[in-house]
Amino acid sequence: METRVLPFNDKAVAEAARLILAAEPVAVPTETVYGLAADATNAQAVARIYEAKGRPSFNPLIIHVPNLPTAERIGEFSAEARGVAEEHWPGPLTLVVPLREEADLASIVTAGLPTVGLRVPAHPAMQALLRAVGRPLAAPSANASGSISPTRAEHVLKSLGGRIPLIIDAGPTERGLESTIVAATGGPLRLLRPGPIQINAEAASNAKIEAPGQLQSHYAPSKPLRLNASTAEEDEFLIGFGPIAGEVTFSASGDLTEGAARLFDLLHQADASPKKSIAVAPVPDEGLGAAINDRLRRAAA
Ligand code: TXA
Ligand code: MG
Repeated sequence: METRVLPFNDKAVAEAARLILAAEPVAVPTETVYGLAADATNAQAVARIYEAKGRPSFNPLIIHVPNLPTAERIGEFSAEARGVAEEHWPGPLTLVVPLREEADLASIVTAGLPTVGLRVPAHPAMQALLRAVGRPLAAPSANASGSISPTRAEHVLKSLGGRIPLIIDAGPTERGLESTIVAATGGPLRLLRPGPIQINAEAASNAKIEAPGQLQSHYAPSKPLRLNASTAEEDEFLIGFGPIAGEVTFSASGDLTEGAARLFDLLHQADASPKKSIAVAPVPDEGLGAAINDRLRRAAA
């Protein structure tokens, strides 16, 4: 299959909508990472996501919808969940809520769970696609399963080229880090995955893996990665931060927002370099740094 890359405009969105309604998955940018979107009401279409990604079929997918009222037709929102949604949507937050019985979703999309992960994305390309298709879109990150999340169209092409028909290219994503995932399924809110938005929620226990994003090896590059490095050892590609320069840097000024936006991009660069392994400078564990370190620890595992 030939993979076309079209710049984001009305024509590209119309073509993407046509493909999605024909049960093909299409890669589209969101404000976090590029997603691989398919019609969430069509099991065949969703299966093609799993197929293209080579993803284990027990992983549930995030459902993208244009607004909160649409989300409330699919999931049950407690007053607390609604409050958090109103504050942060559209934006990089996924809420896991009980699935409504009457919701018209293919069961493969929730991996048979009684809950559903819902998100209202802010990116104009994903918003335009949602409006053009008129159906909820299942969209995991647009990369082969277990590899680094894509923050540019080129990353998608490298990982899934030949396996999907179309990528909409709107340049690098703004946040560079997948959405914060919070479960609102009764009791206090629980943080399933740290991300760009900080929510006052209990840390989910590690005993039970609720979001496979919590799996240790989820973000693995193809070579060993060493954390908290101050200098590069022989045959290591060093990614710097703040005062530690490296061959490239998450942020020379030590800015965590810039660091998050560049995280996966630089891991891709390091992975593609001729060096045998990767080292990264220490990143402070505060604010967005906690989410960055979470991804780095998984990449190192
Ligand atoms: O920023 C993002 O969230 C991106 C963009 C494309 O929206 N999407 C993304 O999707 O990161 P994905 O599939 O790579 O990660 C979704 C995570 C997975 O770990 C999945 O298992 C979890 O969300 N998840 C989805 N539904 C769930 C549910 N009902 N219960 C627990 N975890 C769920
Ligand atoms: Mg992913």
